[in-house]
Amino acid sequence: MNAAAPFDVERIRKDFPILSRELPGGRPLVYLDSGNSSQKPTQVIETMREHLAQHYGNVGRALHVLGSESTDAYEGARDKIAAFIGAPSRDEVIFTKNASEGLNLVAYAFGNPVNTDERFKLGPGDEIVISEMEHHSNIVPWQLLAQRTGATLRWFPVTDEGRLDISGLDDLVNERTKIVSIVHQSNVLGTVNSVSPILARVREVGALMMLDCSQSVPHQPIDVTELGVDFVAFTGHKMVGPSGIGVLWGRKELLDAMPPFLGGGEMIEAVWMDHSTYAPVPHKFEAGTPPIVEAVGLGAAVDYLTSIGMEEIKQHEKELTGYALEALQEIPGLRIIGPRTVVARGGTVSFTLEGIHPHDVGQILDDVYGIAVRVGHHCARPLHLRFGIPATTRASFYLYNTTAEIDALVRGLHHVQKVFG
Ligand code: ALA
Repeated sequence: MNAAAPFDVERIRKDFPILSRELPGGRPLVYLDSGNSSQKPTQVIETMREHLAQHYGNVGRALHVLGSESTDAYEGARDKIAAFIGAPSRDEVIFTKNASEGLNLVAYAFGNPVNTDERFKLGPGDEIVISEMEHHSNIVPWQLLAQRTGATLRWFPVTDEGRLDISGLDDLVNERTKIVSIVHQSNVLGTVNSVSPILARVREVGALMMLDCSQSVPHQPIDVTELGVDFVAFTGHKMVGPSGIGVLWGRKELLDAMPPFLGGGEMIEAVWMDHSTYAPVPHKFEAGTPPIVEAVGLGAAVDYLTSIGMEEIKQHEKELTGYALEALQEIPGLRIIGPRTVVARGGTVSFTLEGIHPHDVGQILDDVYGIAVRVGHHCARPLHLRFGIPATTRASFYLYNTTAEIDALVRGLHHVQKVFG
């Protein structure tokens, strides 16, 4: 693809070999589960294969040719990711295993006794603020932190429409708040949260703010400088990259002030038997041999997405989402959990079908039509409890999906209703 090429979904689909495979029984694959994990284009697969076949060596500690080529590719991927998210400095991009690790890394910095920076001190009387629409990865690390330190965990509620309810913002985010961590785009509702009103209050009270961008970085242009928050976490496998690699972006001044997370090789400056000093960021947070090929693959993923254009991808998904919302709402007994229009919303559509368990829906869609959707609570159980339901069926779209696939989903759902009718 070149940057000037118009968005052509059929051409894009050819980049993803898996999309043309046949499922057992000759069914074509209809992949509507990219919110769970995206498929990979040849460009990413080949870059990783080529690195393993021709350039592989450990990074940052081997002086030979392969070590140097591998280090260049690994650090080159960091440059690409920094540019992709508008990071002011490449040193602010930390490679992690996934978004969960990035969120845990930041949570671990708070209330850590080795901490000297006031902003990360946390104890009884201090407050951590999240929301009811979080993925478990942005709930549990903060629960663990509250348990370790005696701090209090609080959360924004969610409206019936599936929007963040910030009517209590001034009470919820107050002088006791040390950190606010919320999702940018919900993995269930599709809701894209408005950051600026919350951030303005966070700044007023002198707290820090983190965003879980796992579902936004793959689908819309993201500039961390424009967002203005302090930390951003996301994962590679949802943005046409491999699994096993994620990113934590943080302001350098904060990353410098934070204690290390995992200890091990290459995160140190010098080690004695009774103490150590640490490498500068980003390496302070990258203990042990990192996921080298995965990082290189993520660099290729960023190149691929850039070549198509994040704005174009966002527009394509907006069209698909509008089409899907309209078509799904015509199915009797179907209830959408989340906003019913495309305003401030991404391409993740979760729903229930009256009287039919989502597991049955998912099973029939897969067995009969080769349609892959996700069913369950999508690692967001508190959000499902909020809506009084145990589970939903979720279709999530990406750059390679088509309206014909949404038509197939609608046909499949009518069939499910016939089977259970
Ligand atoms: N968080 C991923 C999802 O929503 C795994 O499916």
